[in-house]
Order: sequence, then structure tokens, then C-alpha cells
Amino acid sequence: MTYRNDPYDPKQVALLDQSSLDDAVAAAEKAFAEAGDLDALASIKHLHLGDRAPVSLARREIGALPPHAKSDAGKRVNEARTAISAAFEARQAELRADRERRVLIEETVDVTLPTARRPRGARHPLTTVMERISDLFVGMGYEIAEGPEVELDWYNFDALNIAPDHPARSMMDTFYLAAAGVGNEESGLVLRTHTSPVQARTMLTRKPPIYIACPGRVYRTDELDATHTPVFHQVEGLVVDKGITMAHLKGTIDHFAKAMLGEDVRTRWRPSYFPFTEPSAEFDVWFPQHRDGPRWVEWGGCGMVNPRVLIACGIDPDEYSGFAFGIGIERALQFRHGAADMRDMVEGDVRFARAFGMEV
Ligand code: PHE
Repeated sequence: MTYRNDPYDPKQVALLDQSSLDDAVAAAEKAFAEAGDLDALASIKHLHLGDRAPVSLARREIGALPPHAKSDAGKRVNEARTAISAAFEARQAELRADRERRVLIEETVDVTLPTARRPRGARHPLTTVMERISDLFVGMGYEIAEGPEVELDWYNFDALNIAPDHPARSMMDTFYLAAAGVGNEESGLVLRTHTSPVQARTMLTRKPPIYIACPGRVYRTDELDATHTPVFHQVEGLVVDKGITMAHLKGTIDHFAKAMLGEDVRTRWRPSYFPFTEPSAEFDVWFPQHRDGPRWVEWGGCGMVNPRVLIACGIDPDEYSGFAFGIGIERALQFRHGAADMRDMVEGDVRFARAFGMEV
């Protein structure tokens, strides 16, 4: 240990030798050069520039020098220290640059790689078209009514003026359901063949005025092919009120067709037969945007609610009259969007649904 006022002893201040200082500088430069990364460099800094580093200890020795030697020694120590600091900083700058280069390479994002993002699903166009139709009728003051898909044959047929021996029963290829202990046809249960049983259910539970739209899934024993599917969708409309006439029905269908398909569509009616309406018609729409050129396309059935149906549902036909109509949703998709093959609609391939976007 030396003290400021100790007499000058060249042995004691050996640290101030130029060769010692040169050694300290050389040792520091070598150590810094060997430090492989910034952490290693930081961890050895104190050995060469800290309080106990040779140059720091050497500086302390200056106090013990005679006055004439101090300035020369101070200059040399400072030079050595500056050299070590410079070596440190140079190495630090080098290692930082290295690290930045490495980070740039390691963290490069290849924007051309396929992403692992989970593919988005899409709502099925049958659903969105049904919702759009429902919205349209809600906008006209209708309510939305729903009923079960497993239906009592009484609602599906009898209440709608289709007695058990009525030929219409065999016209509608019906799925009958077995129930515990009873065979198919005796169970009284069917998969509903149309949305019309919702009419009967509504009329039996509510009093007129009735303005309802009933979207839903229906079933018939058809083989799946390009133009048939055993499960399909309809939207039914029913109005029962005082003084309802066929003119109201015509106006409603026309408005509906224009709102769905554009102002340039026209409708055409053909006389037809449904047990639950009298008179009855089937209606076609003139669709100028059809992909095979402008043409009439069949869209649905309609008519004035048969008084026998009103009676079966507890409504007095002398006081009230009504109209009903039913349209096929798959059919609308087919001609409105050129979805030619029915199978595309039921297979559940998301690419089909996605092609319609969120609005159809
Ligand atoms: N329910 C009929 C069918 O499925 C369509 C229809 C509904 C006809 C309402 C007239 C009135 O074919």
C-alpha cells in the first residue's frame, strides 16, 4: 500500500513503468478481442478499466511521485487508459454491429411463406338468403314463426286439408318416423314435407290478424342429385286478416320478388292446385340476369287459404280470409347465383360458402 506522501520508491511504483502500462494495454486489447459477445465483454471490463485494474492502480501511484515526475507519469497513465477505453469501445461497437447483423438474419420474416392461420369459415348462403328473406318480411310488419322438423302428420297433412286418403299424401314423398313399439306409418310422426304445418300451428295458437313468415328445413324422399336433395329449405308466408284478397297476395309476391332479385323482375302466375289453398297458383319470375339468358323460372306456390283450413284451425272463414305462399330457397340460390348443382349446397365444402361472402 502506498500513500500520497510516501517518499518516491521506484520499486513501489513499478506499475508506472512504461512497460507495465504497455503490458496492461496489450493485455486489455487481447482480452477484449477474445470476448466473443457483448456479455463476455461486459463481464471483463472491470478487469481492465475498473478500480482495481492495473491502470487504475497505476494512477493511484502517481501521488507518491516527486512533483517533477507526476505530470509525465500522469500523461502516460492517461494515454494507457485512453488506449484501453478506446479498445473497449471499438470492440463493443464491433460486437454490437455483429449482433445487429445476426438479429436481422435470425429474425427475418419471410412474407412469402404460407401462414399457419386457421382458415376462416363462412356462413352458408342458404342461411344468409333465409335471413335476408326474413328481414324483408319483418320490414313489412310480419313476425317470424318456427315449428318442429319432426312433425305430427296431423299438422303436416290433415290440418291442411290433406286427409289420409288424399292423393297429395302420396305426391309428397314423405319420410315417416317409427316410434317406440309402432311401425313407420302408425307413429303419426313425419319429417315435415313443407313449412305449411307452421301455418296450422300458428292459427291454432293465435288469433288473427296473423302476418308470419316461416323459414325452415323440410324433407322429402328424393335421391340427392344435381337437381334434387332430400333436405331442402322453404320460406312460407301466411296472412290472415279481415278483407284479405288475392290482390294483396299478388302485391306481396311482386314486392318480394323485386326486393330479392331486382326491380327488373316480373312475376307470372299459373293456375295450380294445393289442398290448403283455393284458388291456388304457382308463380314464376322473369329473371333477366339468368346465366343462361333471361327466362322464366319457377319459384313457388301460393293461393288463398282454403276455408276448410281456417275451420280446422278454429278461424271463422266468414270473418277472416287469408293468403299463403311458399318458396324454395335452394331454387333461389340456383337461379340468382348460378349455383347449378344442388349437391354443392349440401356437401359442406367451405369453399362453396365462402364464395358468397358475408352478404348474398
Ligand atoms: N307447401 C307448398 C309446397 O311445399 C307450397 C305452398 C305454400 C303452396 C303455401 C301454397 C301456399 O309445395
